Amino acid sequence: MKAIYITGFMGAGKTSIGDKLAEALNVQVIDTDHYIEQKVGEKIAAIFSKHGEQKFRAYEQEFLKELPTTDIVVTTGGGIITQAENRNWMKQHGKIIYLHCEIELIFERLKDDTTRPLFDVQQREKTIQLFHERLPLYREADFIVDTTFKNIDQIIHEIIEWL
Ligand code: S3P
Repeated sequence: MKAIYITGFMGAGKTSIGDKLAEALNVQVIDTDHYIEQKVGEKIAAIFSKHGEQKFRAYEQEFLKELPTTDIVVTTGGGIITQAENRNWMKQHGKIIYLHCEIELIFERLKDDTTRPLFDVQQREKTIQLFHERLPLYREADFIVDTTFKNIDQIIHEIIEWL
């Protein structure tokens, strides 16, 4: 099986859905953010604050390419699609599944989150703008699931039907 790359905005449920999908397909799952944290030895928030977003993007690009490209579900950071090189890599090596989720639900889910440097619940307009800027890039995926009103089992079922 070629790699499956799960994309979507912060708080869209990529990690929980990716974990469950990998289990259903009986393949390993790797989360790009966790992988970066392990390789660098620092939390994502610390990488952003100490080295800046650009350095984080460089790590993201470098480490994406280290991951296996067969028999794997890769859950990605929400900004992975901002770099054309990453989009091309994922298209070339596997299938990209975009998990769409309405921004209002994302605000609800992440209202107490302090781990995501680019998600600012106090600056709604800025976050909404980021979401809309990225939408066309997310939509370049091979398959799109609108997860907003679905439970995890329905989402997994939809993905497996498509595969
Ligand atoms: C980011 C999303 C985060 C993480 C980093 C940047 C983004 O991952 O990679 O904070 O640019 O959207 P999640 O989508 O898992 O929150």
